[in-house]
Parts: sequence; C-alpha cells; structure tokens
Amino acid sequence: MPTNMPSHVTSKHPLIAHKLSLLRDKNSSAKQSRELLEEIAYLLAYEAMQDLDLKEIGQMESPLAPYTGEAIKDKIGLVPVLRSGLSLVNGFLTMIPTARILHIGLYREQISLQPVEYYNKLPKEPNVDLCIVLDPMVATGGTSVETINILKDWGVKRIKFVCVCASKAGLEALLEAHPDVTIYTGVVDETLSKEGYIVPGFGDCGDRIYQTKN
Ligand code: URA
Repeated sequence: MPTNMPSHVTSKHPLIAHKLSLLRDKNSSAKQSRELLEEIAYLLAYEAMQDLDLKEIGQMESPLAPYTGEAIKDKIGLVPVLRSGLSLVNGFLTMIPTARILHIGLYREQISLQPVEYYNKLPKEPNVDLCIVLDPMVATGGTSVETINILKDWGVKRIKFVCVCASKAGLEALLEAHPDVTIYTGVVDETLSKEGYIVPGFGDCGDRIYQTKN
C-alpha cells in the first residue's frame, strides 16, 4: 500500500460534477436522487479503493493460457451511517460484493447539533481489516468524527471515509480529529447554515431520498 496517500481527496471526475449538479436540483425526485447517489457511489468507490492491496490466489487457467490469479487482500467493512449512508451501500457493494456491512446509527441532536448514537450492530471483535465509512453529507463533522471514534474504539486498524458533499468546516474538523483517515469527497461546499445545513448542498439527504418531510 502506498504510504504517501493524502488525507483528503476531492474527486475531479467530470461525471461526479455532472451528477452532483442534478442531485442539487430541488426538482430532482426521490427516485432520481436515489439513483444519482448510487451512481456517484460507484465513482467514489473507484476513488476510495485505488490503493487496495492484492494477494495472489494461485495458478488459474484462461481459455488460452495459465495465469496467476489475484484478489483483493483485505477484508472490507462498509459502514453506512444511518440513515442516509444506506444510499451509498449498493454502489460500493456492486464494486466489492464480498464486503461486510456494519451498521452504526447516529443522529444530530437538533439544538446542540451533537451526535447521539442510537444503534450499533458492530460484532464484538473486529472482523475486517479496513472500514469504509459511508455518509453522503458532512455538515459540522460531529457525526463523522464520532463514527470514526466508535470504529477506533472497536479496534479496526484502517479506516477510510467517503462522502458526497462536505462543508469546508466539517471537512476541517474531520481532518483535525482523524488525520490518519483518508477522506474522499465528491465536492466541498463553502457554507454551513446556522441550522447545520450545507449550502448550496442538496438539502436534507434522508428526507429527500426517503420522502419523510411533511
Ligand atoms: N445532513 C443533510 O442531510 N444535509 C445537510 O445539508 C447537512 C447534513
């Protein structure tokens, strides 16, 4: 594994920029938003898994000749932060179908904006080498920092963090709290509203994709 990975990568892929622009559109339906998030997840999965190690799995036979088979070495755990993190799971799981899915639920308390854990389905002992945390939006960074704290306390050795849209302040908070975790973002937006929304962002992600706003 390269040791010189930067601790933050914002994708420069034009397809991500194109799809993000559609996702930001307030007229995109829930169905379109879910599809766009899944498509962006494929592209972010490509970014986030570029440095995975391979292992040789022995001699194999193509129809024409023998070759040395290779496979991804590490056991990977995908950690969608409930609930909107679920929107990124299918894209990642399509790319790495052997991944385990580890669920952690945190919500932001509405007044303090502090993270509160309400669900944790991590097995007793770490059963993966690398966790990839999936959260479409990093606003203040509080929930993201806490999710990584939980994973570090659990004992997993390596962690990556993937989000579609981060606020500048949230990204800085995350980098400061966890400089050892590489963060992959689709875009970084300048502004965070006093209610804790990313501006322009794409609104409340969970409400948009699950249609839970009255
Ligand atoms: N979570 C969201 O869903 N949207 C934001 O803008 C910030 C956090």
